[in-house]
Amino acid sequence: MKHLIDPMDLSPEEIDDILALAQDIIYDKDKYSEVCKGKKLATLFFEPSTRTRLSFEAAMMELGGNVLGFSSADSSSSSKGESVGDTVRVVSCYADIIAMRHPKEGAPKLASMVSGVPIINAGDGGHNHPTQTLTDLLTILREKGRLDNYTIGFCGDLKFGRTVHSLIKALSRYENINFVLISPRELKVPEYIITEIFEKNNIKYREVTSMEEVIHELDILYMTRVQRERFFNEADYIRLKDTYILDRAKLKNAKEDLVILHPLPRVNEISVAVDDDPRACYFKQALNGKYVRMALIMTLLGLKGVMR
Ligand code: NCD
Repeated sequence: MKHLIDPMDLSPEEIDDILALAQDIIYDKDKYSEVCKGKKLATLFFEPSTRTRLSFEAAMMELGGNVLGFSSADSSSSSKGESVGDTVRVVSCYADIIAMRHPKEGAPKLASMVSGVPIINAGDGGHNHPTQTLTDLLTILREKGRLDNYTIGFCGDLKFGRTVHSLIKALSRYENINFVLISPRELKVPEYIITEIFEKNNIKYREVTSMEEVIHELDILYMTRVQRERFFNEADYIRLKDTYILDRAKLKNAKEDLVILHPLPRVNEISVAVDDDPRACYFKQALNGKYVRMALIMTLLGLKGVMR
């Protein structure tokens, strides 16, 4: 039985297969409308979510399956003091696959150790968010036609942003990617990303504080929200939240074929005036999230062969 807890749980070949399947689903949706008939997905969300939970649910429905679950810890027995392990052990009697989001880093890993069905990490604290990474990879592939050879800028909260950590890890396995890390000093990527990912693999990276200084070099710009819920101190959040705001004026210096990504939700970091720019790909990215989750559910349930 396979779980998806960390993006590195998937080999580059397995990622290629999932992205290829997602593209086939986009190409011929009808072919897949009954593959999960009789199967159930449980979504256990101990932390808020819009896109991740609803795209998982829509994905399972479009595969002909059913969904059950909860969308906040308050409405589950965790509010009575039940452990994650017990909750998951029980839910795995009711569902064929579980997608789980939790504020504690490592909670989905623990769940995978007691679960009778595949566990998908839908975000654990500031740690990982592997299905957002698959969404990002599918978007890069569809927009750029490749997963290697470009300069990507990550901008905003690189310290607490789990989507950033997961995507950097996944991209570290592709050739000739140049990483530009744009953040205030207080929100730089964690040290393990520098030592374990960049330095260990001899990958080119640069840490800067100004977006204006580097925007003209970028092929992809990955914007992020400052993660308010992970701050210890509201005053620090307020001081840092509007450090970077991407607007039309800044985009004047950017490449014509820049791809602007954002895992969403957006707060202030991208001006709404940018939404009409053909380089803005974040809403397409949200749609890709549904297709890639369809491909992932099929893969983890061992249903891929059914279609080939
Ligand atoms: C992200 C998350 O939950 O980490 N959202 C998402 O899943 N698309 C990003 C965020 O909350 O800022």
